[in-house]
Amino acid sequence: MTDLQGAVVLVAGASGGLGSRIAAQLSDQGAVVVRAGRAGGELTGPDAYVADLREPGGGASLVAAALQAHGRLDGVVVAAGVVGFGPADAVSDEALDELVQTNLLAPVRLLRDASEALAASAAAGREPFAVTISGVVAESPTAGMAAYSAAKAGLAAWVSAASREFRRRGVRLVDARPGHTETGLATRPITGEAPSFPTGLDPDVVAARIVRAIVDGEKDLPSTSF
Ligand SMILES: NC(=O)c1ccc[n+]([C@@H]2O[C@H](COP(=O)([O-])OP(=O)(O)OC[C@H]3O[C@@H](n4cnc5c(N)ncnc54)[C@H](OP(=O)(O)O)[C@@H]3O)[C@@H](O)[C@H]2O)c1
Repeated sequence: MTDLQGAVVLVAGASGGLGSRIAAQLSDQGAVVVRAGRAGGELTGPDAYVADLREPGGGASLVAAALQAHGRLDGVVVAAGVVGFGPADAVSDEALDELVQTNLLAPVRLLRDASEALAASAAAGREPFAVTISGVVAESPTAGMAAYSAAKAGLAAWVSAASREFRRRGVRLVDARPGHTETGLATRPITGEAPSFPTGLDPDVVAARIVRAIVDGEKDLPSTSF
């Protein structure tokens, strides 16, 4: 069991459907939650920060802000992401860049930049963790979502490899791969238009499942766990 009481957890994408719910549930369990978003409008309070994670220094600035405010970092949840739809051979350079930067490079950079602080948390006797949300497309790359699937599969692969390295320093990485979830993400694509999906998972239930995995010390959350 991971005790969240007093744990300092950075949630990137805290203005979003899953991120805001995960942040609230972590808070309910006693964690000190540092919330980060891109727009900022929906994020208020002393522990809310604005950063565009596509910027190379974006993630590092959030880690620095959490450390400056609380002197420690015990967990990171990366719930930032964008989706795009359309034929694989018609994607624009701009959409391709944003899908890969936001869904793959940004989480990789953020966890790299948080690793030192998370290792320090382990050295201090706590049980630090980091969670990414790649999604079911990482397991089943989907036609009409090729670039999004590729970015998410890349993220899942990075977590799979890096988790073995982080584990040696006492840091647990968990990749969550839920299926389509009713946060409205599919209605806000950066390119293309979503096909009609059957009703998706309940975001409160998905968020609760992810928080339970954090508390229970689970090491992976494949699509079958949702
Ligand atoms: N919903 C699903 O069906 C589903 C299924 C599997 C996996 N996922 C993944 O779960 C994660 C959360 O999705 P969601 O459904 O909660 O989507 P959402 O409601 O659209 O939230 C996405 C979040 O990402 C943030 N974001 C986007 N681009 C960013 C950037 N460049 N820098 C910093 N923040 C950025 C958004 O901030 P702003 O609002 O400020 O732009 C928002 O907080 C995503 O990675 C998504 O791919 C979702």
